[in-house]
Amino acid sequence: TRVLSVASEAYPLIKTGGLADVVGALPAALAPHGVATTTLLPGYPALAAVTKRAKVVHRYTDLFGSPARILSAKIGEHPLLVLDAPALFARGGGPYGDATGADWDDNWRRFAAFGRVGADLASGVVAGHAYDILHAHDWQAAMAPAYLRWAPGPGRPAKSVVTVHNIAFQGRYGADIFSELGLPDAAFALDGVEYYGGVGFLKAGLEAADAITTVSPTYAAEIRRGEFGMGLEGLINTHAARVTGIVNGIDPAVWNPASDSALHARYSARTIARRRVNKRAVEAMFGLDAGDGPIFTVISRLTWQKGMDVLVRVLDDLVAMGGRLALLGSGDTALELAFLAAADRHPGRIGVRIGYDEPASHLLQGGADAILIPSRFEPCGLTQLYGLAYGCVPVVARTGGLSDTVIDANEAGIAAGVATGIQHDGVSPEAVSHAIARATALYATPDRWATLQRNGMRADFSWGESGRRYAQLYAKLMEPS
Ligand code: ADP
Ligand code: GLC
Repeated sequence: TRVLSVASEAYPLIKTGGLADVVGALPAALAPHGVATTTLLPGYPALAAVTKRAKVVHRYTDLFGSPARILSAKIGEHPLLVLDAPALFARGGGPYGDATGADWDDNWRRFAAFGRVGADLASGVVAGHAYDILHAHDWQAAMAPAYLRWAPGPGRPAKSVVTVHNIAFQGRYGADIFSELGLPDAAFALDGVEYYGGVGFLKAGLEAADAITTVSPTYAAEIRRGEFGMGLEGLINTHAARVTGIVNGIDPAVWNPASDSALHARYSARTIARRRVNKRAVEAMFGLDAGDGPIFTVISRLTWQKGMDVLVRVLDDLVAMGGRLALLGSGDTALELAFLAAADRHPGRIGVRIGYDEPASHLLQGGADAILIPSRFEPCGLTQLYGLAYGCVPVVARTGGLSDTVIDANEAGIAAGVATGIQHDGVSPEAVSHAIARATALYATPDRWATLQRNGMRADFSWGESGRRYAQLYAKLMEPS
């Protein structure tokens, strides 16, 4: 099976969140199941190093108003195609906006062009490149199946899958852009790209795709409801038979405490005590007092989705309970300032680093005692999986992938010897504070805590089962109908 995986991010080349980790891990996750994956990415400046000597496989004289090329390179050992379109992608800042975080005005054109190219590749426009399946991730890639459906290239079209990593981000634009998309008028319809009077990229992709997946079974059920569906709940309900939830795995080549070069001490479930060395390093890096009490960590976008506005309100409680906090994150300015203010109020107890730091995120998982993830919604979540693998006990809201991957340390969970973390219902200050209190009490009973850590470290969050499920889905789509 030949799959074209179309996405706006892939670790290690370009990453703003979990999407990159998943897209980067998929080729290796699928290979054991007979799936050969080619990844298509936009040609951001960050990709210059890998495309320097890349081969040109296709040229456009006019792709949405400017020339462009498709380059062939490698991501790790796997094939990579890059849409080299300097007018669209060769600019500073992030993949979606400038250095201040403001979205680019022409994102609709950038990601429509990206989708157009994905559809071209998936309908045999480029000689020597043929695919059975087009797998598009999130709204930035969702126009690929839309073009494939309503304006395909001349060859045999691939079957299509759209994976929703976060339904809150949809790529919604005014109706005025429709005439520039190069779609037939008939596509501006209820079962086409039209969305509440405008154009919806994710909506269009979901309508067009042969199958829809999201990144956990619970989130697949949640997005059928208004509270989580963000306006797309009706569509998800209508297509419910084509929607499945496949939980993300973790890439063992990147996230393994026994071989992680970002750690000061490497360890396994049998040598958990060595985490102490990393804990000292976390204290030093975050300016925390040395001590034996629990260090909580946060490694997150600082946003409403992640419940960070609630967490900031319970930090005085956390400190009063004897806890310390090491936070690494960036996001909403008001939240960044609120966490910095909390660090000022509690020197030695709360340490905050605003920014994005991949090695520090590994050290925190390997040295902090527990990771706080009070998300209001969480399609899958990867940081709780990394926490489980690293013996950094997850304390999470019971939603989405967090409820599917963490087993609460209630009496039954402890008695059965299966508990791996702590869950709380809802994201109120009371609920989060109570969860922190439960974690603190468990931490004070060292053998119970060590059991939680070991259970998490021994649980299987590899891609094995999920890779197999994607492969099965592809195979089903390829059956002659
Ligand atoms: P989301 O994609 O919604 O942000 P996930 O939990 O799926 O949430 O993935 C977040 C990814 O981004 C993880 O790999 C996490 O370690 C990483 N991450 C988040 N914030 C930072 C940061 N400030 N520095 C380094 N890595 C971060
Ligand atoms: C999104 C979601 C997150 C998920 C990630 C990878 O960013 O917010 O929950 O883990 O995609 O699927």
